Amino acid sequence: MKNTEILKINKDGWDKVYEDFFSATSLPIYGPFAPTEDELTLFNDVSNKNILEIGCGSGHSLVYFAKKGANELWGLDLSTIQIETAQKLHTEKHIESYLFVSPMENDPGIPHSHFDIVFSIFALGWTTDLPKTLKNIYDYLKPGGSFIFSWEHPLYSRLSYEEGHFVARQSYISEGRSTKAWHGVPIVMHDRKLSTYINELINVGFCIKKIIEEYKAPVDEGEDDPEHWYSSHRARRVPPTFIIKCVK
Ligand SMILES: C[S@@+](CC[C@H](N)C(=O)[O-])C[C@H]1O[C@@H](n2cnc3c(N)ncnc32)[C@H](O)[C@@H]1O
Repeated sequence: MKNTEILKINKDGWDKVYEDFFSATSLPIYGPFAPTEDELTLFNDVSNKNILEIGCGSGHSLVYFAKKGANELWGLDLSTIQIETAQKLHTEKHIESYLFVSPMENDPGIPHSHFDIVFSIFALGWTTDLPKTLKNIYDYLKPGGSFIFSWEHPLYSRLSYEEGHFVARQSYISEGRSTKAWHGVPIVMHDRKLSTYINELINVGFCIKKIIEEYKAPVDEGEDDPEHWYSSHRARRVPPTFIIKCVK
């Protein structure tokens, strides 16, 4: 399947499921069972910084940075409805932002060497072209600027719970794409190894500062169902989330 066909399927999908993700994965949360930005402080002081979010979804992480005194706030997302949702939220909160409906694989006219920080929370892994997306991000950053992102840990999705046991349901080593019924819509997902993300960051010129693959128990942790996709039973064995900070 061509990348343009995948983007069309995923855009249609995200335009339908956006409500399930309203404010679901936004800073200070990096992802399920992961330490938060309040604990990690990877962004440091953002006052007067120009910030761009890749796959900004409902726009809540940009609100988080507006409250912390960031200068310019920019975002892009594949889904027209996600961008409309983010725009509405920012208008309600009197936040000025520059938002684009665009796949992250394309540059919709975002200024180069302009951003102190580019970040992405549970969105980068949707890209159909990781090298091109990372090159775009590298170009948007000022020299010395940071790229911080989180995504589902590739080992987590390879594990499943069957008849009382966790089993490796799929090879970690083989990478590829699969079409799934996801939240009731067809969607195309990509399987990549952690080393693929790291090597592509290095190839584009980034210097990696930190990789986090920790389990953080929720405050109200009770016994959850190991058959659920996000369960503490599984997350204690393999982290659901990884986070990388790198610098141009
Ligand atoms: C799990 S959501 C993360 C949203 C965001 N962190 C938030 O706070 O709402 C993933 C987002 O990635 C977007 N997305 C998926 N594929 C994309 C692509 N190729 N280019 C840009 N955005 C994409 C989806 O539309 C969705 O809004």
